[in-house]
Amino acid sequence: MEFFGALERTEINDVLETGILFRYNHEAQRNNIYKAREFEAEVAKLVGAKYAHAVSSGSTAALCAMVAAGIGAGDEVIVPPFTYIATIEAVLMVGALPVFADIDETLCLSADSIRRAITPRTKGVCLVHMCGQMADMEAIMAVIDDHKLVLVEDAGQAMGASYKGVSTGLWGKTGAYSFDFFKIATAGEGGVMVTNDEQAYKHADSFSDHGHDHIGTNRGMEQHPILGFNYRISELHAAVGLVQTRRVPDIIEKNNAHKKQLMATLGAIPGVSFARIPDPDGDSATFLNLLLPDTQTAGRVIAELNAAGVGGFNYWFTNMYHFINQWDHIKQMRTASALPIEKFGAPQDYTTLDLPGAQSVIGRLISFGIRASWTTEEVATLAENVGAAIRKATLIEA
Ligand SMILES: Cc1ncc(COP(=O)(O)O)c(C=O)c1O
Repeated sequence: MEFFGALERTEINDVLETGILFRYNHEAQRNNIYKAREFEAEVAKLVGAKYAHAVSSGSTAALCAMVAAGIGAGDEVIVPPFTYIATIEAVLMVGALPVFADIDETLCLSADSIRRAITPRTKGVCLVHMCGQMADMEAIMAVIDDHKLVLVEDAGQAMGASYKGVSTGLWGKTGAYSFDFFKIATAGEGGVMVTNDEQAYKHADSFSDHGHDHIGTNRGMEQHPILGFNYRISELHAAVGLVQTRRVPDIIEKNNAHKKQLMATLGAIPGVSFARIPDPDGDSATFLNLLLPDTQTAGRVIAELNAAGVGGFNYWFTNMYHFINQWDHIKQMRTASALPIEKFGAPQDYTTLDLPGAQSVIGRLISFGIRASWTTEEVATLAENVGAAIRKATLIEA
């Protein structure tokens, strides 16, 4: 979301000049301009996916990922308590039943907690790669394979991250990225579902456009192999998304340099550690994820950061809409109209969940958004300011 310029404007103008803002058909007028297709090809190239399908948001990409993976009404899906709420909503919207398991210091579901949450009704796992980092994939894939579960990856926050060379979104059957305004690359609003499975791709392609098969040049005469709805992306959004995607490798490189610099300085302070990155070479480094010894210390550091006017951080434990402690509407199942889960019955009592890993890790976590546009001096100043706040809060002599 940091870099915009002439390249974005050129792509948007291409679309405006033809006036065809719809991604399909209108072959005679569009002068062979297909920005959504180009956007998809760009994302597929970046992450190494066989198929990429662009839709209206990361939330609808997660929904398409669920549907395309065959997850539906009454299926139990293991989910994390630390994610953007869209993940849980996507599970609920397809009629499936979220089962919360615990996370560890990777900020993602742990293999052990997934194993413990499995029941005879478990269909799959929706693994969320949080804060630009990736989960512990080898251990998790062992559980997925042992129990023949379907893996869906919500990589809304971690496009471009990888583990041992394989990108987020491509470990499971389907994966989803967000291109909302706050992500490493933005389309304004948008999302992309990726998969290496042709059938899953076809299902997502049809599901996101009222079931259309997109064969031929006469939309009115198309077949509808499945039911669907409208989660289409517009050509204007896709035009921005495609340029932004091209910028990602450079952003990741800069982010990583800044993150290493911050970690080197702050890691020297007693009591400071960082969220675990199972493969540090695959970090997208959109966040510096700082861990303090306990929740009380984290609270004191936040107070010192605020007092010193240091901004640009998230304390998910209380401030942000990414942690189960803030999800009263889900715990009390407050819905405008009944969801399938209210007919099936929830698989867990969401008000009495015991998730000690999540409570401890998220209580201790402060995440600083990293900006690729920072200079080395700006990074050094931030490290100094954050370090001073930590020292003050923990009463360590500077
Ligand atoms: C993990 C995760 N999944 C899904 C989404 C939803 O993406 P969008 O805002 O594009 O709908 C987000 C957005 O913050 C996210 O962080």
